[in-house]
Amino acid sequence: MRLFSKKRQQPQRVLPRHIGIIMDGNGRWAQKRGLPRSAGHTAGAANFKTITRYCSAIGIEYLTVYAFSTENWKRPKDEVGALIVLFKQYLEEALRDFLDDDIKVRFIGDTTAFPEELQTLIAETVEVSKNRTGMVLNLAMNYGGRAEIVGAVRQISQDTKDGKLAPEEITEETISAALSTAGQPDPDLIIRPSGEHRISNFLLWQSAYSEYVIMDILWPDFKPRDLEAAIDEYSHRKRRFGGV
Ligand code: FPP
Repeated sequence: MRLFSKKRQQPQRVLPRHIGIIMDGNGRWAQKRGLPRSAGHTAGAANFKTITRYCSAIGIEYLTVYAFSTENWKRPKDEVGALIVLFKQYLEEALRDFLDDDIKVRFIGDTTAFPEELQTLIAETVEVSKNRTGMVLNLAMNYGGRAEIVGAVRQISQDTKDGKLAPEEITEETISAALSTAGQPDPDLIIRPSGEHRISNFLLWQSAYSEYVIMDILWPDFKPRDLEAAIDEYSHRKRRFGGV
């Protein structure tokens, strides 16, 4: 069903509550310009700030961005190092300049694998922003959907072993509550720029009924108007959640 406003017969914009973004294409963006891949990540990080602010400004309640996957450790050491520097710079800037912000920053993934200095910044950012009431920003760092599900299974098995939970009491809700996004709505819309048609281990459980929008734009070039185009596309989709 398309939603049309009575006045102008224009499709009505349906705002997703939770958007996920796979920030892909930094490397190709740099290659096209004859630059090192790290330059693509620098441009990608700048764009991440622009899009995050835009999402918050238009009233998105939850934004989850894929910044570093459990598989990204396989990349050359200097590229991983450059990404870690960018994460540090962003968090230092957030702690210094964005203190009046309303964005609540959370991290999903195993951040204990990162250098201690970055872990400290992560903890400080979570602490400083924990009582904010605006958009929740989930930064997926050293995140993998499969690893997250393994963690949930381990926790639930332990609870069962300890007699806190009977096997027949395990439900979809039990599993959702054991994930790093516990208490948050599942993503309504997942955007993948750069034209790749892959899930890449992103929010595997949570995306069961998400609408995917794949766009042929490299992440550093992805503008607020492209986000609006994705929201527009989402607005036209008929979500059936397995029904008719
Ligand atoms: C995928 O593009 C992108 C990444 C693995 C890193 C994403 C990280 C950022 C955008 C920086 C985020 C910064 C902060 C501060 C959160 P790719 O390198 O795989 O691109 P390619 O497919 O063109 O090679």
